[in-house]
Amino acid sequence: MSITERMGHVIDLNLTDEIIGLENAHIVQSYKRPPFVLVRGEGVTVYDAEGKAYLDWVAGIAVNALGYAEPGMVNAIQTAASGLLHTSNLYYTEAQARLAAAICEKSFADRVFFTNSGTEANEGAIKFVRKYHYDRGDSERKEIVCFSGAFHGRTLGSLSLTPKEKYQKPFSPLMPGVVVAEYNDIASADAAITERTAAVIAEPIQGEGGINPATDAFLQALRRFCDERGALLIFDEVQAGMGRTGTLWSSEPSGVTPDVQVLAKALGAGMPIGAILTTNAVADHIHPGDHGTTYAGGPFITSVAHYVFDRISQPEFMAHVREVGDYLKERLQEINSPLIKEVRGRGLMVGLELTVDVAPVIEAGYQHGLLMVNAGPSVIRFVPPLIVEKQHVDVLIERLTDILAATGGARS
Ligand SMILES: Cc1ncc(COP(=O)(O)O)c(C=O)c1O
Repeated sequence: MSITERMGHVIDLNLTDEIIGLENAHIVQSYKRPPFVLVRGEGVTVYDAEGKAYLDWVAGIAVNALGYAEPGMVNAIQTAASGLLHTSNLYYTEAQARLAAAICEKSFADRVFFTNSGTEANEGAIKFVRKYHYDRGDSERKEIVCFSGAFHGRTLGSLSLTPKEKYQKPFSPLMPGVVVAEYNDIASADAAITERTAAVIAEPIQGEGGINPATDAFLQALRRFCDERGALLIFDEVQAGMGRTGTLWSSEPSGVTPDVQVLAKALGAGMPIGAILTTNAVADHIHPGDHGTTYAGGPFITSVAHYVFDRISQPEFMAHVREVGDYLKERLQEINSPLIKEVRGRGLMVGLELTVDVAPVIEAGYQHGLLMVNAGPSVIRFVPPLIVEKQHVDVLIERLTDILAATGGARS
């Protein structure tokens, strides 16, 4: 054992090799990871087993909205842990009901169904929209319209709505009745949404697809086509929702409300929870036995998520996200590099599109103490903890400028 100490924290120099060895031997190799082991975090910084610090622009893929070891969250977890952890959904518990009421108060929704993840929330949403039409005697209405560039999850229903060959091809046959239209193309949506459409599903800002905001006109057109043709509108706010874009829901600026909205990620800020929000018009068709889950909505997780929801939904918190998000975009736009094609996004969901593959830039980020993640081959996605400050943006810009200069030469 090689043990040393840095800044009061014990560092085990052998841990990295040991854990990477165990991982490579015993974990299904569906992820490619960089060669360090993260052991702790504080604020917007995480540390590896050798004591190296990384400024975190990933936040566990848009999850850790309150950063790491946030005292209020630690307290909420400790308090919840000494109460009921799990009871199943056979019984009434307090935290689930109170969180649902809080979410309904701040959204279009009348009712909530909790899940354990984003993909599971989308699976539930698919079932809800099908049940709605079935109950109303329109059981032939089965089609779901999704969009190019969409990402809705990895389980079979949501994977079927994620039109990417690499993700879908080996796992066929997928769910039938999926129609793919062009994102942000009103004419394409117009042609795809018909009397056979059960629902249309869209991300108001696509995350995995490359940080692509929908135009307000596109979202408004989806609402209009759904209303005219009797289809339901689902917004997948798993990544863009919960304050990430500077409004609680990323669809807010468009003025459009959906019939069903799916949440996860920052709702638990690191604890696994998702949710399906819907209206009474839809929920009235969901009866005992139609859908279920053993764990989701449990008292422990929902009481921690309630703490997170109350923090994030404060107007000052949203204002902070908008201010730092605008600053991040501004500073990224100032970087003078021929490799930069476009900076886009809203709030703290920002994409930097390069003219080259971003993998080497992300790789170099590790040497420079930055965690960054891609969204497709040419976009670096910045989705940091929502508590990030302007000073952290300055550090990012300084390091990224150096990396881009070394990668492709900065303009003088
Ligand atoms: C928009 C969107 N929907 C659904 C999902 C799937 O969520 P989960 O990974 O929690 O299943 C993701 C994950 O990245 C997402 O970005």
